[in-house]
Amino acid sequence: MAKSVTTYVCSECGTHSPAYLGRCPRCGSWGTLEEERSAAPTARGGRAAAARRLATTRLEEVLDASLSRRSSGDAEVDRVLGGGWVLGSALLIAGEPGIGKSTLLLQLAQHAVEAGRSVLYVAGEESPAQVRMRADRLGLGSGMELTRENDARVIAEHVRAVAPDLVIVDSIQTLVDEDGAVPGTVSQLRDSTALLVDAAKGSGSTLVLIGHVTKQGSIAGPKVIEHVVDATFALESAAGLRVLRSMKNRFGATGEVGVFEMTQSGMQAVKNPSEAFLAERPRGVPGSVVVAALEGQRPLLLEVQALASKSPYAAPRRVVQGLDHRRVDVVLAVLERRLQLPLDSLDVYVNVAGGLRLTDPGADLAVAVAVHSAVTNRPAPDGTALVGEVGLAGELRSVGQLARRLEEARRADHPRLIGPRSRELPDGVRTLQQALALLWGDA
Ligand SMILES: Nc1ncnc2c1ncn2[C@@H]1O[C@H](COP(=O)(O)OP(=O)(O)OP(=O)(O)O)[C@@H](O)[C@H]1O
Ligand SMILES: [Mg+2]
Repeated sequence: MAKSVTTYVCSECGTHSPAYLGRCPRCGSWGTLEEERSAAPTARGGRAAAARRLATTRLEEVLDASLSRRSSGDAEVDRVLGGGWVLGSALLIAGEPGIGKSTLLLQLAQHAVEAGRSVLYVAGEESPAQVRMRADRLGLGSGMELTRENDARVIAEHVRAVAPDLVIVDSIQTLVDEDGAVPGTVSQLRDSTALLVDAAKGSGSTLVLIGHVTKQGSIAGPKVIEHVVDATFALESAAGLRVLRSMKNRFGATGEVGVFEMTQSGMQAVKNPSEAFLAERPRGVPGSVVVAALEGQRPLLLEVQALASKSPYAAPRRVVQGLDHRRVDVVLAVLERRLQLPLDSLDVYVNVAGGLRLTDPGADLAVAVAVHSAVTNRPAPDGTALVGEVGLAGELRSVGQLARRLEEARRADHPRLIGPRSRELPDGVRTLQQALALLWGDA
């Protein structure tokens, strides 16, 4: 009999540990390590494998059918996917409970049916009647196959035999690959997914896996299977809207975002997300500025807010949300050392309004101006958007896609863009100091 090895796997982040630990050493979650047994490799197994010949194929002879794409039927989703569904690929859409995963996928399933493709919808969490109710509410027609099956072996077999064009599994946390197994554990999740991914690759189907993100690791999270799938997308909530973001994509750019609104008739693409994100911006309030950001390839106007208040602590607090903490620290240091802004006794809070996350280094100038505005109690003028990376010497550095940011700023009613001087922005500035002088006529 094969000897079995016991390891422990964190259901939040997928880290392996040889011993049980109360707290995951990587992600710091408590009580998330689960026992997992696997057969130890035996010397005999090794010899048997060595007896087989390695099969290889010349790269140029590999059929390049794998990258054929099909539009998802939704321009916003296509943008995030990198052009549409890729045949024979597996992707994961993860999000918190109730965010709208089932709604979005049901709509995309319907688009596929209308384009003449076959769809299998595996509804492990809801009864067919519930799916029907949602479809009726969204005004969706018919034509897709539904199943409540949660045994990944049965689903995989069906996918191999029937090769549906699109297979949607709602959700991975309901899958099992052994009789009587408890769904949602690390090993069930990983092994079931692997089975389905393998079947989809073999049959040329596009496999979409829906996964719940849980903060409390009671069921294994999407992290555990991220490396098995070709692409991972997160569905998040921001400023009352839904943002679909590509986190990993073997067939397209990461960081691409699609913006939707959850309406009575389902997820609707938001035509002017910049306006939507700025809708609640307070006018004439110090600390609130507009950044001409770039998310993926998409220019977006967003509000950056800062607040400074006298600190009761010896080491004042720096609370940052939606921005890279380290970048904000650098900007604060530059403000303090190069512009003599007294921050040493102030608690400073900086965030992107609406709970959006911004990875663009071009947000530095907006952070600097927001903090400066908050500390000096002067509101930034209306109709002005900011962009630029701030260097340690207080210089303003150029950013990608300036022309498109400029265009978006104009379109979204912010005709004045303050940013690094360049061909696209001839009346731009070279330093943070100059940017502030331009805004407030001094500094
Ligand atoms: N009649 C309705 N009109 C508008 N929105 C609705 C309506 N009914 C439900 N919703 C919205 O749909 C959301 C649930 O959507 P959906 O079931 O697609 O989410 P999910 O991410 O699949 O959730 P779960 O984690 O439960 O699977 C609810 O949070 C609610 O905001
Ligand atoms: Mg759902």
